[in-house]
Amino acid sequence: MREPTREAIAAAANLIVAGHLVAFPTETVYGLGADAANGEAVARIFEAKGRPRFNPLIVHVLDFEAARKLGRFSTLAADLAEAFWPGPLTLVVPRQENCEASELVSAGLDTIALRAPANPVAQQLLAASSRPIAAPSANRSGHVSATLARHVADDLGGSVAMILDDGATSGGLESTVISLASEPALLRPGAVPSADIERVLGKPLVRRQDDAGALTSPGQLESHYAPRAAIRLDADEVYPGEALLAFGDVLPGASGRVLNLSPRRDLVEAAAKLFAALRTLDAEGVSTVAVMRIPNAGLGEAINDRLQRAAAPRPAN
Ligand code: TXA
Ligand code: MG
Repeated sequence: MREPTREAIAAAANLIVAGHLVAFPTETVYGLGADAANGEAVARIFEAKGRPRFNPLIVHVLDFEAARKLGRFSTLAADLAEAFWPGPLTLVVPRQENCEASELVSAGLDTIALRAPANPVAQQLLAASSRPIAAPSANRSGHVSATLARHVADDLGGSVAMILDDGATSGGLESTVISLASEPALLRPGAVPSADIERVLGKPLVRRQDDAGALTSPGQLESHYAPRAAIRLDADEVYPGEALLAFGDVLPGASGRVLNLSPRRDLVEAAAKLFAALRTLDAEGVSTVAVMRIPNAGLGEAINDRLQRAAAPRPAN
């Protein structure tokens, strides 16, 4: 834990640029940050949090100009950014054509969640690193969000290179998450009241509810990227016409298209490449992908969760 002096923030920025994890304060809760453009650094966020699945992450930017390089803003989206940034509002928008953020921050979706935080330490870190910073709340999966640097140290101490200690966060409630990918929708209630947002929009937000009337969790609702190709798991041979998604030494006899998630059997590398690999094979029009067995330890659990969902029979539409 370090006090956020100029020197400490410069050192933290260097760590981000070098692909390490840095915990930093925002006006809501502490974030567990990594360079959003570095897939392996983003994969380490999931590893550190011990999340059994890949949820899309919020990418923090300094300002609207930086946000526009990553996401496409409609007039309404730009109005919300103008009204509430910097501040605790996260906007989910379509990814920009040449979006430099890793596909892992979007969990393979076509959208990206962006927010410009108001906390000065967070702003200085973004400015000093000149990087978009992916950051979920800095707690282990299933624990409550961290509002003190000590909470972060208790939960994640071993996996972060530095914790910038700015005392208690002023808010404590996470940012409000709004999707502008289609009709403006409330994905997560949070620090900005939805009525304030509706006033700027001039219309009510869509609220998606399950049968019991509860607001559906965006992580579950929005992250169903399913490849068009059929997926065959735990392959120990490759059939004619199949592409192979390999892990480690390529299966003998693979003669067609082969894409290797990690020749050195590194789960962080595999996690970083997973969504881009599925999209690449889809774009090539592959009909079936045989996937080699991936160990279920560490990040392997989240990788296998995603592959299993991709392999599950899905309703025709
Ligand atoms: O206040 C906050 O928002 C904190 C600070 C650190 O900024 N961050 C935070 O991140 O709470 P996290 O990862 O714990 O929550 C991100 C939320 C999740 O509900 C996630 O499903 C949603 O944002 N989300 C992120 N990207 C999305 C996307 N492309 N589509 C839909 N939902 C998305
Ligand atoms: Mg969280």
